[in-house]
Amino acid sequence: METVVALNSLREAVDRLRERGPVALVPTMGALHEGHLALVREAKSRAASVVVSIFVNPTQFGVGEDLDAYPRQLAEDSRLLEVESVDLMWAPPVSEVYPDGFATTVSVAGVSEGLCGASRPGHFEGVATVVAKLFNQVRPDLAVFGEKDWQQLAVIRRMARDLDLTLPRAEAIYGLATVREADGLALSSRNRYLSAEDRARAAALPQAMREAIAAIEAGSAVAPTLAALEAHLLQAGFASVDYAELADADSLALLSELGERPARLLVAARIGGTRLIDNMAVSPR
Ligand code: PAJ
Repeated sequence: METVVALNSLREAVDRLRERGPVALVPTMGALHEGHLALVREAKSRAASVVVSIFVNPTQFGVGEDLDAYPRQLAEDSRLLEVESVDLMWAPPVSEVYPDGFATTVSVAGVSEGLCGASRPGHFEGVATVVAKLFNQVRPDLAVFGEKDWQQLAVIRRMARDLDLTLPRAEAIYGLATVREADGLALSSRNRYLSAEDRARAAALPQAMREAIAAIEAGSAVAPTLAALEAHLLQAGFASVDYAELADADSLALLSELGERPARLLVAARIGGTRLIDNMAVSPR
Protein backbone atom coordinates (compact mmCIF):
# COMPACT_ATOMS: atom_id res chain seq x y z
CA MET A 1 0.00 0.00 0.00
CA GLU A 2 1.23 3.45 -0.90
CA THR A 3 0.74 6.28 1.62
CA VAL A 4 0.37 9.79 0.22
CA VAL A 5 0.21 13.01 2.26
CA ALA A 6 0.63 15.71 -0.44
CA LEU A 7 -1.85 16.65 -3.14
CA ASN A 8 0.69 16.82 -5.98
CA SER A 9 1.79 13.20 -5.38
CA LEU A 10 -1.83 12.06 -4.97
CA ARG A 11 -2.79 12.94 -8.54
CA GLU A 12 0.10 10.93 -10.01
CA ALA A 13 -0.53 7.96 -7.72
CA VAL A 14 -4.25 7.81 -8.61
CA ASP A 15 -3.47 8.16 -12.34
CA ARG A 16 -1.25 5.08 -12.05
CA LEU A 17 -4.09 3.15 -10.35
CA ARG A 18 -6.57 4.28 -12.99
CA GLU A 19 -4.57 2.47 -15.65
CA ARG A 20 -5.66 -0.80 -14.02
CA GLY A 21 -9.39 0.05 -14.09
CA PRO A 22 -12.02 1.72 -11.91
CA VAL A 23 -10.89 3.37 -8.67
CA ALA A 24 -13.05 3.35 -5.52
CA LEU A 25 -12.76 5.83 -2.65
CA VAL A 26 -13.71 5.14 0.98
CA PRO A 27 -13.59 8.41 2.95
CA THR A 28 -12.96 8.05 6.71
CA MET A 29 -11.71 9.95 9.73
CA GLY A 30 -9.57 6.97 10.79
CA ALA A 31 -9.73 5.09 14.12
CA LEU A 32 -10.81 2.27 11.84
CA HIS A 33 -13.13 -0.51 12.97
CA GLU A 34 -14.93 -3.41 11.29
CA GLY A 35 -17.61 -1.03 9.93
CA HIS A 36 -14.96 0.89 7.98
CA LEU A 37 -13.33 -2.36 6.85
CA ALA A 38 -16.69 -3.63 5.54
CA LEU A 39 -16.80 -0.50 3.34
CA VAL A 40 -13.27 -1.25 2.12
CA ARG A 41 -14.27 -4.82 1.19
CA GLU A 42 -17.37 -3.55 -0.63
CA ALA A 43 -15.17 -1.06 -2.51
CA LYS A 44 -12.74 -3.86 -3.45
CA SER A 45 -15.58 -5.96 -4.84
CA ARG A 46 -16.69 -3.07 -7.07
CA ALA A 47 -13.39 -1.61 -8.34
CA ALA A 48 -9.89 -2.58 -9.48
CA SER A 49 -8.23 -0.31 -6.90
CA VAL A 50 -9.23 1.12 -3.54
CA VAL A 51 -8.17 4.45 -2.04
CA VAL A 52 -8.98 5.11 1.64
CA SER A 53 -8.77 8.66 2.91
CA ILE A 54 -8.03 9.31 6.57
CA PHE A 55 -8.64 12.88 7.60
CA VAL A 56 -10.13 14.15 10.86
CA ASN A 57 -11.98 17.04 9.26
CA PRO A 58 -11.98 20.05 11.62
CA THR A 59 -14.76 21.91 9.78
CA GLN A 60 -17.41 19.30 10.62
CA PHE A 61 -16.83 19.58 14.39
CA GLY A 62 -18.74 22.28 16.26
CA VAL A 63 -17.46 24.44 19.11
CA GLY A 64 -17.24 22.28 22.25
CA GLU A 65 -17.32 19.02 20.25
CA ASP A 66 -14.66 16.29 20.37
CA LEU A 67 -12.22 17.44 17.62
CA ASP A 68 -9.17 17.38 19.94
CA ALA A 69 -10.20 14.17 21.68
CA TYR A 70 -11.14 12.35 18.45
CA PRO A 71 -8.99 9.17 18.31
CA ARG A 72 -5.99 9.36 15.97
CA GLN A 73 -4.03 6.15 15.29
CA LEU A 74 -2.55 6.44 11.81
CA ALA A 75 0.04 3.66 12.24
CA GLU A 76 -2.59 1.17 13.39
CA ASP A 77 -5.02 2.28 10.64
CA SER A 78 -2.29 1.85 8.05
CA ARG A 79 -1.65 -1.70 9.31
CA LEU A 80 -5.38 -2.55 9.08
CA LEU A 81 -5.58 -1.22 5.52
CA GLU A 82 -2.47 -3.19 4.49
CA VAL A 83 -4.22 -6.37 5.67
CA GLU A 84 -7.19 -5.47 3.44
CA SER A 85 -4.81 -4.95 0.47
CA VAL A 86 -5.86 -1.34 0.04
CA ASP A 87 -3.84 0.29 -2.76
CA LEU A 88 -3.49 3.83 -1.49
CA MET A 89 -3.98 5.63 1.82
CA TRP A 90 -4.57 9.37 1.43
CA ALA A 91 -3.77 10.99 4.78
CA PRO A 92 -3.19 14.71 4.25
CA PRO A 93 -2.40 17.16 7.06
CA VAL A 94 -4.97 19.89 7.77
CA SER A 95 -2.78 22.51 6.02
CA GLU A 96 -2.95 20.52 2.76
CA VAL A 97 -6.76 20.40 2.81
CA TYR A 98 -7.42 23.88 4.22
CA PRO A 99 -4.49 26.12 3.20
CA ASP A 100 -4.40 29.69 4.45
CA GLY A 101 -7.15 31.77 2.87
CA PHE A 102 -9.53 28.84 2.32
CA ALA A 103 -12.97 30.46 1.98
CA THR A 104 -15.40 28.13 0.20
CA THR A 105 -18.24 26.12 1.75
CA VAL A 106 -20.61 23.61 0.17
CA SER A 107 -24.05 23.88 1.73
CA VAL A 108 -26.86 21.44 0.91
CA ALA A 109 -30.29 22.78 1.87
CA GLY A 110 -33.22 20.52 2.78
CA VAL A 111 -31.73 17.14 3.75
CA SER A 112 -29.03 18.89 5.85
CA GLU A 113 -31.45 20.87 7.95
CA GLY A 114 -33.23 18.60 10.45
CA LEU A 115 -32.00 15.80 12.74
CA CYS A 116 -28.19 16.00 13.14
CA GLY A 117 -28.20 19.25 11.12
CA ALA A 118 -30.37 20.84 13.81
CA SER A 119 -28.41 19.48 16.80
CA ARG A 120 -24.97 20.08 15.17
CA PRO A 121 -25.16 23.45 13.34
CA GLY A 122 -22.62 23.65 10.50
CA HIS A 123 -21.79 19.93 10.68
CA PHE A 124 -23.11 18.98 7.23
CA GLU A 125 -21.53 22.04 5.58
CA GLY A 126 -18.21 20.72 6.90
CA VAL A 127 -18.98 17.21 5.67
CA ALA A 128 -20.20 18.32 2.21
CA THR A 129 -17.21 20.63 1.76
CA VAL A 130 -14.60 18.03 2.67
CA VAL A 131 -16.28 15.25 0.68
CA ALA A 132 -16.52 17.52 -2.39
CA LYS A 133 -12.79 18.20 -1.95
CA LEU A 134 -11.94 14.50 -1.48
CA PHE A 135 -13.92 13.66 -4.63
CA ASN A 136 -12.03 16.33 -6.61
CA GLN A 137 -8.68 15.31 -5.16
CA VAL A 138 -9.01 11.57 -5.82
CA ARG A 139 -11.57 11.66 -8.69
CA PRO A 140 -12.78 8.12 -7.97
CA ASP A 141 -15.13 6.22 -10.27
CA LEU A 142 -17.16 5.22 -7.24
CA ALA A 143 -17.34 5.89 -3.51
CA VAL A 144 -18.63 3.83 -0.59
CA PHE A 145 -20.24 5.23 2.57
CA GLY A 146 -22.02 3.64 5.54
CA GLU A 147 -25.76 3.75 6.16
CA LYS A 148 -24.76 4.27 9.81
CA ASP A 149 -24.68 7.96 8.89
CA TRP A 150 -27.94 7.91 6.91
CA GLN A 151 -28.40 11.68 6.76
CA GLN A 152 -24.76 12.18 5.72
CA LEU A 153 -25.29 9.74 2.83
CA ALA A 154 -28.42 11.66 1.75
CA VAL A 155 -26.50 14.96 1.89
CA ILE A 156 -23.60 13.59 -0.19
CA ARG A 157 -25.90 12.06 -2.82
CA ARG A 158 -27.84 15.34 -3.10
CA MET A 159 -24.58 17.27 -3.48
CA ALA A 160 -23.29 14.90 -6.20
CA ARG A 161 -26.54 15.26 -8.16
CA ASP A 162 -26.82 19.01 -7.70
CA LEU A 163 -23.22 19.74 -8.68
CA ASP A 164 -23.37 17.33 -11.69
CA LEU A 165 -20.34 15.51 -10.35
CA THR A 166 -18.90 13.11 -12.92
CA LEU A 167 -16.31 11.47 -10.65
CA PRO A 168 -17.98 9.86 -8.89
CA ARG A 169 -21.39 10.07 -10.55
CA ALA A 170 -24.26 10.29 -8.04
CA GLU A 171 -25.32 6.76 -9.06
CA ALA A 172 -21.86 5.48 -8.14
CA ILE A 173 -22.17 6.52 -4.48
CA TYR A 174 -22.93 3.31 -2.61
CA GLY A 175 -24.35 2.94 0.90
CA LEU A 176 -23.52 -0.14 2.97
CA ALA A 177 -25.66 -1.55 5.81
CA THR A 178 -24.53 -0.73 9.36
CA VAL A 179 -22.13 -3.20 10.97
CA ARG A 180 -23.16 -3.97 14.57
CA GLU A 181 -21.72 -5.56 17.71
CA ALA A 182 -23.28 -8.82 18.95
CA ASP A 183 -25.65 -6.88 21.23
CA GLY A 184 -26.81 -4.70 18.34
CA LEU A 185 -24.84 -1.51 19.07
CA ALA A 186 -23.63 0.07 15.81
CA LEU A 187 -19.83 0.13 15.54
CA SER A 188 -18.48 3.66 15.89
CA SER A 189 -15.09 5.23 16.53
CA ARG A 190 -16.80 7.06 19.40
CA ASN A 191 -17.81 3.84 21.22
CA ARG A 192 -14.31 3.77 22.71
CA TYR A 193 -15.20 6.85 24.78
CA LEU A 194 -17.76 4.75 26.71
CA SER A 195 -17.01 3.34 30.18
CA ALA A 196 -17.66 -0.40 30.51
CA GLU A 197 -20.89 0.38 32.33
CA ASP A 198 -22.13 2.82 29.70
CA ARG A 199 -21.07 0.47 26.91
CA ALA A 200 -23.36 -2.21 28.39
CA ARG A 201 -26.21 0.29 28.77
CA ALA A 202 -25.76 1.59 25.22
CA ALA A 203 -27.25 -1.63 23.82
CA ALA A 204 -30.61 -0.20 24.90
CA LEU A 205 -30.44 2.10 21.85
CA PRO A 206 -30.80 -0.54 19.12
CA GLN A 207 -33.11 -2.58 21.36
CA ALA A 208 -35.49 0.32 21.98
CA MET A 209 -35.38 1.20 18.26
CA ARG A 210 -36.30 -2.35 17.23
CA GLU A 211 -39.22 -2.31 19.67
CA ALA A 212 -40.45 1.04 18.36
CA ILE A 213 -40.20 -0.16 14.76
CA ALA A 214 -42.17 -3.33 15.55
CA ALA A 215 -44.87 -1.21 17.19
CA ILE A 216 -45.06 1.32 14.31
CA GLU A 217 -45.14 -1.44 11.70
CA ALA A 218 -47.94 -3.12 13.67
CA GLY A 219 -49.97 0.10 13.47
CA SER A 220 -49.19 1.96 16.72
CA ALA A 221 -49.41 5.76 16.55
CA VAL A 222 -46.01 7.32 15.80
CA ALA A 223 -45.81 10.19 18.37
CA PRO A 224 -46.53 8.10 21.50
CA THR A 225 -44.25 5.32 20.24
CA LEU A 226 -41.38 7.82 19.81
CA ALA A 227 -42.13 9.25 23.27
CA ALA A 228 -41.95 5.72 24.73
CA LEU A 229 -38.64 5.16 22.91
CA GLU A 230 -37.18 8.31 24.49
CA ALA A 231 -38.46 7.28 27.94
CA HIS A 232 -36.93 3.81 27.47
CA LEU A 233 -33.52 5.35 26.67
CA LEU A 234 -33.58 7.74 29.64
CA GLN A 235 -34.57 4.88 31.92
CA ALA A 236 -31.74 2.72 30.54
CA GLY A 237 -29.17 5.36 31.57
CA PHE A 238 -28.96 7.73 28.58
CA ALA A 239 -28.54 11.33 29.76
CA SER A 240 -30.58 12.93 26.97
CA VAL A 241 -32.09 12.32 23.55
CA ASP A 242 -31.21 14.87 20.83
CA TYR A 243 -33.93 13.46 18.56
CA ALA A 244 -35.94 10.33 17.86
CA GLU A 245 -37.84 10.72 14.59
CA LEU A 246 -39.59 8.80 11.87
CA ALA A 247 -38.65 10.24 8.47
CA ASP A 248 -39.07 9.54 4.78
CA ALA A 249 -36.06 7.37 3.90
CA ASP A 250 -35.02 9.55 0.94
CA SER A 251 -36.12 13.14 1.58
CA LEU A 252 -35.77 12.82 5.38
CA ALA A 253 -39.03 14.79 5.74
CA LEU A 254 -40.42 13.99 9.19
CA LEU A 255 -43.45 11.68 9.26
CA SER A 256 -46.23 11.76 11.82
CA GLU A 257 -47.61 8.51 10.42
CA LEU A 258 -46.29 5.62 8.37
CA GLY A 259 -47.14 6.04 4.69
CA GLU A 260 -46.66 3.94 1.59
CA ARG A 261 -43.02 4.87 1.05
CA PRO A 262 -39.94 3.46 2.81
CA ALA A 263 -39.33 5.20 6.13
CA ARG A 264 -36.44 5.37 8.55
CA LEU A 265 -36.27 5.65 12.33
CA LEU A 266 -33.36 7.93 13.27
CA VAL A 267 -32.11 8.56 16.81
CA ALA A 268 -29.29 10.57 18.43
CA ALA A 269 -28.82 10.22 22.18
CA ARG A 270 -26.15 11.00 24.74
CA ILE A 271 -24.69 8.62 27.29
CA GLY A 272 -21.83 9.47 29.66
CA GLY A 273 -20.88 12.53 27.56
CA THR A 274 -20.81 10.57 24.29
CA ARG A 275 -23.30 11.22 21.50
CA LEU A 276 -24.43 8.05 19.72
CA ILE A 277 -26.49 7.93 16.51
CA ASP A 278 -28.34 5.06 14.87
CA ASN A 279 -30.99 4.52 12.22
CA MET A 280 -33.01 1.58 10.94
CA ALA A 281 -35.47 0.85 8.15
CA VAL A 282 -39.20 0.96 8.79
CA SER A 283 -41.27 -0.95 6.22
CA PRO A 284 -44.15 0.96 4.66
CA ARG A 285 -47.71 -0.28 5.11
P1 PAJ B 1 -16.22 8.20 9.83
O1 PAJ B 1 -17.10 8.46 10.99
O2 PAJ B 1 -14.81 7.76 10.03
O3 PAJ B 1 -16.95 7.16 8.91
C1 PAJ B 1 -16.39 6.79 7.67
C2 PAJ B 1 -17.41 5.94 6.94
O4 PAJ B 1 -17.64 4.74 7.69
C3 PAJ B 1 -18.77 6.65 6.80
O5 PAJ B 1 -19.29 6.41 5.49
C4 PAJ B 1 -19.60 5.96 7.86
O6 PAJ B 1 -20.99 5.96 7.59
C5 PAJ B 1 -19.03 4.55 7.82
N1 PAJ B 1 -19.33 3.81 9.06
C6 PAJ B 1 -19.11 4.19 10.35
N2 PAJ B 1 -19.55 3.25 11.21
C7 PAJ B 1 -20.08 2.26 10.46
C8 PAJ B 1 -20.71 1.01 10.77
N3 PAJ B 1 -20.90 0.61 12.03
N4 PAJ B 1 -21.12 0.24 9.74
C9 PAJ B 1 -20.95 0.65 8.44
N5 PAJ B 1 -20.35 1.80 8.09
C10 PAJ B 1 -19.92 2.61 9.08
O7 PAJ B 1 -18.33 9.70 8.31
C11 PAJ B 1 -17.21 10.20 8.40
O8 PAJ B 1 -16.12 9.54 8.92
C12 PAJ B 1 -16.91 11.61 7.91
O9 PAJ B 1 -18.05 12.40 8.09
C13 PAJ B 1 -16.44 11.67 6.43
C14 PAJ B 1 -17.51 11.15 5.46
C15 PAJ B 1 -15.13 10.88 6.26
C16 PAJ B 1 -16.16 13.14 6.05
O10 PAJ B 1 -15.22 13.71 6.91
